[in-house]
Amino acid sequence: MRRRPKYSILKKTKLAQSSRVYDQVNLYGCTIGKNTKIDAFVYVEEGVTIGDNCKIRPFVFIPTGVTIEDNVFVGPSVTFTNDKYPKAHGEWKLLETRVKRFASIGARSVINPGVTIGENALIGSGSVVTRDIPDNAIAFGNPARVVNRKVPLHVTSTRPRNTRGSLQG
Ligand SMILES: CC(C)(COP(=O)(O)OP(=O)(O)OC[C@H]1O[C@@H](n2cnc3c(N)ncnc32)[C@H](O)[C@@H]1OP(=O)(O)O)[C@@H](O)C(=O)NCCC(=O)NCCS
Repeated sequence: MRRRPKYSILKKTKLAQSSRVYDQVNLYGCTIGKNTKIDAFVYVEEGVTIGDNCKIRPFVFIPTGVTIEDNVFVGPSVTFTNDKYPKAHGEWKLLETRVKRFASIGARSVINPGVTIGENALIGSGSVVTRDIPDNAIAFGNPARVVNRKVPLHVTSTRPRNTRGSLQG
């Protein structure tokens, strides 16, 4: 971690030295791998694992039961969930969710509990993912449906020269 994030709470968290946590982040009882970036206003609950080289953009919510493998991109305001029939009181059943390596989740998507997002899959912005998404698939919409397209292998960067920081949303 390069500098101390301001107004962030990091409790009982295993955070690799090379990872970076920004301001106003809440990490509790989770594990975060190497070279992972956790942007501002991210909230991560107990038992969550986030792998190496991930990018977690601002305002993401990751509750207990979620596992994020290496090299995953989670867009701004993505919400994960862990209880299919939530209520304020009484028993509840935790459903586990997994995002496999190299997957990307578009901005403001909601991931219903218990799904697996496949390796290198891409979820379009604003999607509601209610079923498993296969490896290498592009899926979007509410509910998210796989479309007949492949994730492009290389996308040329349009980042202007001499610009500091990440321009990727
Ligand atoms: C899903 C996605 C990869 C599709 O890209 P694409 O294959 O180039 O598709 P196109 O833009 O050509 O759109 C194809 C069709 O799908 C629709 N579409 C595209 N993305 C959509 C989405 N997220 N939700 C609903 N419909 C979508 C388009 O409206 C278009 O419909 P039309 O043919 O009726 O006009 C892209 O739109 C997307 O959502 N990327 C994620 C962006 C993001 O959140 N980035 C995070 C960093 S800021």
